[in-house]
Amino acid sequence: MTNSMNGKQVLLIIGGGIAAYKSLELIRLLRKAGAGVKAILTRAGTEFVTPLSVSALTGEKVYSDLFDLTDEAEMGHIQLSRSADLIVVAPATADLMAKMANGLANDLASTCLLATDTPVLLSPTMNVRMWQHAATRRNVETLRGDGIHFVGPNEGDMACGEFGPGRMAEPAEIMQAITTHLGNGPLTGKKVLVTAGPTCEPIDPVRYLANRSSGKQGFAIAGALAELGADVTLIAGPVHLDTPPGVARVSVETARDMMAATEQALPVDVAIFVAAVADWRVADATNQKIKKQKGAPPPTLTFCENPDILATISQLPKKARPSLVIGFAAETENLIEHATAKLQRKKCDWIVANDVSGDVMGGEDNQVILIRQQGPESWPQMSKQQTARRLAQTIADALQENQK
Ligand code: CTP
Repeated sequence: MTNSMNGKQVLLIIGGGIAAYKSLELIRLLRKAGAGVKAILTRAGTEFVTPLSVSALTGEKVYSDLFDLTDEAEMGHIQLSRSADLIVVAPATADLMAKMANGLANDLASTCLLATDTPVLLSPTMNVRMWQHAATRRNVETLRGDGIHFVGPNEGDMACGEFGPGRMAEPAEIMQAITTHLGNGPLTGKKVLVTAGPTCEPIDPVRYLANRSSGKQGFAIAGALAELGADVTLIAGPVHLDTPPGVARVSVETARDMMAATEQALPVDVAIFVAAVADWRVADATNQKIKKQKGAPPPTLTFCENPDILATISQLPKKARPSLVIGFAAETENLIEHATAKLQRKKCDWIVANDVSGDVMGGEDNQVILIRQQGPESWPQMSKQQTARRLAQTIADALQENQK
């Protein structure tokens, strides 16, 4: 990270929230990475951090009032709003987001946000209920539609004593998002494909076969890769998860749809197959609902095998094959042995093995073993987000190593 932002300018808007203290750490990290930082402290922000600590860390004066004539003479608010490569709002409060979504401009922060033509990254923080309120949901949608980027909020214990989404992202996460939006992430320029979630195989128009995959790990991986600057296509089976920021999602139902969408997304540099693809589909799925027939035996389902997407892509001719193909192996016993056999059978480059005998499917945590040519590497139990970030970084390191 050191000096990776040399010459870049960030305008940091610090809103009024208890998480404002994390913005001080963010300034420190930005400066350490070589970025110049100017800060606007909103009036509410001054209740949580002082202008003195902000200016001591940025090494610049702190801007706070729209009608400060001295400031306007030195650098007008329009100029200030355009002087940066990226505007970061951290903490982004519900109030600031509502102002932005509605185009209000009644203080320096909101005026700069309305006057700017540079990319804006918001790091929201608020009480869980405020985040889930219909008004905030509408505002987030509007802002996303306006091309505003988001990092977080995370789920966890809140200063207000409640639990849920609303905690501001950690400074290190915000740094990663900033790196991406400044266009100099380690995966900038790389195309990556991720499959995630279950597939759904129809029996008749109302019934289907599926599995317990929640899609959380695959979605987290897609998000983590995008944070590092990759151009990510996420091919997702039917799950109700938000698409991670900066990720292009293709929604599919069946294994055959997923295969077709995967082939369409090629060529890519890296392909990661996290989806729990149904191995079989019902051979004679009907167009009409299967009815109970009085006195007749229950229907018998006949299966046929689905295409193996991972094996197919791994065995493409060299010119069409992604340079790194990664599979997942969900096992309930003899983890390393089965996963290594799977890697050899399907001819992928790496396999991420996880023991799914507990509540991994649908749960928040994961404990995986990464199997590569150099052997298995056991990762500690951590959240699916953390596992995703570590995998994304490992991929970035491997690609960099290959380029040497
Ligand atoms: N996979 C795939 N297409 C399939 C089946 C699996 O792309 N039709 C991928 C999964 O996304 C995963 C890997 O293959 O990356 C291993 O999936 P898994 O279900 O563990 O392996 P199977 O081949 O189904 O083996 P088994 O069920 O016998 O363990």
